[in-house]
This record gives sequence, C-alpha cells and structure tokens, in this order.
Amino acid sequence: MVNKLLAHHRPKWKTHIGFLLAAVGSAIGLGNIWRFSYLCYRNGGGAFLIPYLTALFIVGVPLMILEIGLGHKMRGSAPASFASISKKWEWLGWWQIIFVMFGIVLYYSVIIAWCLNYFFFSFNLSWGQAPDNFFANTFLMSTDSPFQVGDVRTIILASLAFIWFCNWFIVFKGVQKGLERASKIFMPLLFILVAVIVIWGLTLPGARKGVSVYLRPDFSQLTNIDVWRDAFGQIFFTLSLGFGIMIAYASYLPKKTQIVRDSLIISGLNCLFSLFAGVGVFAVLGYMATAKSVPISEVVTQSVGLAFVTFPEAISLLPAFSNVFGVLFFGSLVVAGLSSSVSIVEAFASGISDKFHYRRKTTVSVLCIFGFLGSIIFTTKGGVNWIEIVDHFLNQYGLILGGIFQCILVGWVLKARNLQKHINHYSDWKVPGFWNFCIKIISPVILLIIFISTLLSEISSPYGGFSRVATILIGRDWLFYTFFAALIVASHPWRTDPSRRIISHEKEKS
Ligand code: PHE
Repeated sequence: MVNKLLAHHRPKWKTHIGFLLAAVGSAIGLGNIWRFSYLCYRNGGGAFLIPYLTALFIVGVPLMILEIGLGHKMRGSAPASFASISKKWEWLGWWQIIFVMFGIVLYYSVIIAWCLNYFFFSFNLSWGQAPDNFFANTFLMSTDSPFQVGDVRTIILASLAFIWFCNWFIVFKGVQKGLERASKIFMPLLFILVAVIVIWGLTLPGARKGVSVYLRPDFSQLTNIDVWRDAFGQIFFTLSLGFGIMIAYASYLPKKTQIVRDSLIISGLNCLFSLFAGVGVFAVLGYMATAKSVPISEVVTQSVGLAFVTFPEAISLLPAFSNVFGVLFFGSLVVAGLSSSVSIVEAFASGISDKFHYRRKTTVSVLCIFGFLGSIIFTTKGGVNWIEIVDHFLNQYGLILGGIFQCILVGWVLKARNLQKHINHYSDWKVPGFWNFCIKIISPVILLIIFISTLLSEISSPYGGFSRVATILIGRDWLFYTFFAALIVASHPWRTDPSRRIISHEKEKS
C-alpha cells in the first residue's frame, strides 16, 4: 500500500523522448560549446579527441549506465538511492548534490548571465574595437585578486536574476510541464542555432584552415598527463556525471526502460554535439586568423576569453550580419546553459522531497532564492577569480572524488553484478560483464590516479597562479563545508524508509 502510494506520488516523464531530451539537455551545456573547444585548443587541438574518446568509453558510458540503472532501480534521488544501498553512504548523495547546487550552479548561472548580457551586446557590437579590454575592464571590472571582492556589477546581477527566474519557473512547473516541455523547446532550438553557426562559419574564408587545426591531432600531447586529466574531468562534467542528475532523472522513468540504449544515446549525442560545435568554433577562428593574417595559435586566448574575447572580436570582423551571428552564438550559449542549470535544481529538489517530504513547489522556490543569493559573490568585481578557483576545485576534486566513491559503493557494496542483473532484466540491450570490471576497478583506479596527480601538481604550485591562501580558503574549504553540510543532512531521520521504493526484478519473477 505504502509502496503504491509512494510510486503514485513520484513524478513521471510523460514521454520517453521527453526524458531523453531533458537528459541530453542537462549534458549539453556551456561545457560543450565554451569549455570543450577551449580544452581542445589548450591540449593540442584534435589530439585531445583521443584521451577524450577513451575517457568516454571507459568511464563516461559505464558511469552513465550506472547512474541511470541505479536511479531506475532505487526510484529515488541520489541520496535516497545511496541510502537504499547502505545508510552509511547516504552522505555521498548529499555531498554530490550539495556541492553542485551550492557550488557549480552558483557560478554556472553567472556565466549564463554573462552570455545573456553579451546576447544583448551583440545587437550593436558594444564590445567595440578592443573586446579584451571591454570584457575585463568595462564589463567585469575585474580585480586581480579574489580577496579584492569589490562591488556587485549590477548589469550582471540583473541578468542573473532573470536566469534564476527561468530556473525557478521551469523546475517549479514540475517534471512534465516544466522540464519536459522546456527541453522539447530548448533542444531543437539549440540544434538549429548551432547548425546555423557551423554552416555559416564554414562558408567564411579561412574556415577550412581552422577546422584542419581542430581535427589534426598533435600526438606529442598524449604523453602529457594534464591532457588526460582534462579529458576525464571534462567527460564527467560534460555528461553531468557525479551530479546526481541522471539518477534523479532516471527515477522518473517507467519500469520497462531501455537503460543501456538510452545511456548510449545520451552520451553519444552529447559528445557528437561537442565535436560539431567545435567545428563551428574553429571555422570562426580560422576565419579570424585569415582576416588578421596571423597564425591560428595567435587568435586563440585561454579560458573564458575564448567565448568572451576572441569570439566577440571574430564576430566584429565578419563581413556581413555580424550582430545576427553574435545573437545566434550567445543565444545558443544561454539555451544550452539553462537546460543544464535546471537539471541540477531538479536533482537537489528531488533529494529534499524524497527525504523530508516538503512540498515540491515550496522547496523549489526556497532553493532558487538561495541559489540566486549564493551566486551574488560571483557577480562582484573579484567574481571571475572566484569562478576560476571554485570551478577548478569542484570539478577536479569534487566530481572526481564523488565518482570514485560512487564506483566503490555500487561496485563493491551493492555489487556491480546485482545492478547489472537489474539492468539486463529490463533492458533489451544487455550490459556485458566487462561493465562490472569497469565499475569495480578501471574507473575508480583511473579516477584515483587523476585525483592524486592533480593533488601533486597543486602542492607544487597552486592552481592558476592564485595565492595558496586563496586556493585553500576558497577552493578546498568549499569542498569541506559542503561535506559537513552533507553529513548533517544525512544524519537526519527519513520520513519514510527510502528502500521501500526499490524496484526488484527478483520479486517480479516470483
Ligand atoms: N553538462 C553540463 C555542461 O557541460 C554541466 C552542468 C550540468 C553544469 C548541470 C551545471 C549543471 O555544461
């Protein structure tokens, strides 16, 4: 009876394609357009595809199957699913969704807000002749140190408020009327926008040169451990793994579901999209290099500079309809970003409602207010320094560490074989035995190596040239505080036993 009641209250996707689009929407984000192309450039262009695809197949896809399979079996958010395996591990689920909600999404929404500002700047190419100066000094008014916080930039704050309003509106409306409906609009729109950018980009003179730099691998980079580290980190980030999102999304699926096929579709579409968007980015870079008669290596800047400095400059150089191109580019970033940020608000809200049974709408409203308030630090003049540090620590340590624990929990505590049996019972495409080996050994070992090597290079020189005090107080402590918060939330009692929701194929058989 209770079981039926709980199952009844759990939201469900209306259509299967709705689920796929929402999951792909979460995976495809700023990371695919802004981060992937930047990593590609930094790690030797096309050479990066080798570690990237390796990471996809030995860690990305296996973990995607794990998260979707687990959410489906446990019919719960990350904390509920982990607690159903073992109460001792509940903290892990909370930690993941807490540092993503009160960490990654806070600065991620600020970057979407920048994109929204730039969307409007595109109409009259406000960045003028010196986009780098415009970005750093006129727009961000950035300070040199994270400790010089300075005032809030109102222009960014205003667009941030709008972004949080959108997050709130979509998640507040619920799984079917909010997330599913929004994804059905956002995803086709995004594909069209990016397709126009790529086709337009390819018609520009010099585009070919750009694309060939992008696709020609520089194999010497493969011996560089940093390149591999970036590839694995990016796979985690880009597939939204270790965020608790796929677990929550899969918990709204019906019993009969194609877990393996869906995992492959989501991961595949996401990575194809990155590659495709990269063609557009490099076509434009090729054009820019040709227009300025310089080598491509000279037109690419690092980090957010690619999207907010190089692209604006390239856009201004376009022979015709520059502002339309700007609108398309920044518009696509906003759409891609929003469809990701809503997914984490959902993952967090579902964790809270699973455990405390608060009303969903109240939870979402309170959450978005806190989210907005928490984002404000990143809208200050020192904010961009904070973004760099927090981004580095949460991605390189938080996500990777969470991933290792997740593999240990499912691989060894629940036992990968048990989840494999569950998945194979419901899914037409079967998970091979190799998957168990990936989850139990390969993925955690690789992730551990990456974790240790990042830690070692951190010790020898703090990230990004920031002071050690800054990286410790902002980066490391962000992880610590969210960890303590997770322990506290996990220690609270459940209103109803989370393991009551588990779907058991054994029972079904008998
Ligand atoms: N997959 C997203 C991206 O590549 C990452 C993300 C998901 C960030 C959800 C925030 C929230 O951009």
